[in-house]
Amino acid sequence: MNTTNQKIKVWDLPTRLFHWSLVLCFAVSWGSVELFDDAMQIHFYAGYTLLTLLIFRVLWGFVGGSTARFSHFWSGVHATKAYARTLLKPRPNDNIGHNPVGGWAVIIMLTLLAAQMITGLFSNNDLLDSGPLAHYISGDLSDTISGIHGTIFNFLITIVGLHIAAVFFYRFYKHSNLIIAMITGYKTLPNTLNTSGLYFVSNFRAILVLAIAAACVAALVIYS
Ligand code: HEM
Repeated sequence: MNTTNQKIKVWDLPTRLFHWSLVLCFAVSWGSVELFDDAMQIHFYAGYTLLTLLIFRVLWGFVGGSTARFSHFWSGVHATKAYARTLLKPRPNDNIGHNPVGGWAVIIMLTLLAAQMITGLFSNNDLLDSGPLAHYISGDLSDTISGIHGTIFNFLITIVGLHIAAVFFYRFYKHSNLIIAMITGYKTLPNTLNTSGLYFVSNFRAILVLAIAAACVAALVIYS
């Protein structure tokens, strides 16, 4: 059969907005601690926004479009190993959505982000600033959790570094421009690909989900 390429929409707008907002907030959150001495308030606001994004993304993983759903990229050991064996082949990736290895990287990143957010709520910085739930636990426990908050960040920055390196590996070695796909939503894929399982849901649903996520975080901050 004659195989040509076509542009196929693989990422919905909410997933793309989630991703680039996550990148921005992650940078602000990191910069507010590493680059400035007195930017704890900014760190808190970036953290609350990250928590909102994270809750949104977890819910979207169940009610969003097909490629955003966990069931779409949560692959078993067999499929992951089979894909991993093809990783070094310099040919474009023809997965609609995340490939099995990338899917695991996403799950690990989201899990580490969740751990980072949860520990942040109970942390303090040895000065006057502490997370909104820190006063529910002892100072010693809060100090321990603050240490864990820092350690998780080191894991997180390592996996994010690997994630960015992987994206560039795909770009220059495998000739797959995943970055453009995460910006425009469209991936160039063979026209022989079966796209019958691909579907999207309305952006209005995403707004509702985001409102639920924001309300949870607002309630947490206001009533803590
Ligand atoms: C400028 C730096 C970054 C670039 C160029 C980038 C690029 C990308 C691309 C192309 C994808 C889609 C991968 C695929 O096709 O399977 C993706 C997904 C993802 N990235 Fe990044 N990324 C960056 C930074 C980050 C950071 C800092 C984080 C976390 C703090 C992050 C977390 C994620 C997550 C969670 C996904 C999955 C998206 C979803 O399914 O909702 N990325 N990224």
